[in-house]
Amino acid sequence: MKGKFVTFEGCEGSGKSTQIRLLSERLKKAGIPHMVTREPGGSDIAEQIRGIILSGRNTAMCDECEALLYAAARAQHLREKVQPALEAGMLVLCDRYVDSSLAYQGYARGLGTDFVAAINGFAMRDFRPDLTLFLDISPRAAFERKHGADEGDRMEQLGLAFHEKVYEGYLKLAESCPGRIVKVDCSGNKFRTSDIIFALLKSANIIK
Ligand code: TYD
Repeated sequence: MKGKFVTFEGCEGSGKSTQIRLLSERLKKAGIPHMVTREPGGSDIAEQIRGIILSGRNTAMCDECEALLYAAARAQHLREKVQPALEAGMLVLCDRYVDSSLAYQGYARGLGTDFVAAINGFAMRDFRPDLTLFLDISPRAAFERKHGADEGDRMEQLGLAFHEKVYEGYLKLAESCPGRIVKVDCSGNKFRTSDIIFALLKSANIIK
């Protein structure tokens, strides 16, 4: 693949969107072409699937359905947007990818990482990230930093105990993929964190 694929992971309130925005501004200034996208969603069909997954009405959704819908949205977004961009040599920055499914559905929902990896293997084929930045802040610290809960989609409504399990899942994933997943302490100043991320992209040869 000619392009580079960088994914951002972390718990709710870890500041992924802010960091992606700061990185994108910096890349623009440096004249480095890139595409910013997100999961679940990022394309029309995948955004429709996102609406179903996150709707507060869908409290009856079973865990298996949830995992399959995230994988379905991923397959569509990948084929429609990420794969063509990577084939054109673009740097792709994606807010969440397969590690979200492993942490949320595999660990926290308790479906098991083998099952979740298997359905995502089918959805993703060979499209693995070159680098994954795990924005490391515990759910409790993130909650306190934003001074309380969000309005809350179906996932955000799950409560601190669920999100603590997600966090544990991410830590285990980071331990098991030390080359690909890099932990970034994001509890401090956002501009300092952005500097660290920019330097990491350079040292991983994602950008020159
Ligand atoms: P979003 O509003 O994009 O959350 P955030 O701003 O925290 O990234 O909603 C996405 C939600 O979906 C979030 O709670 C994480 C969850 N999710 C999964 O459970 N599995 C997945 O595979 C993905 C991509 C997201």
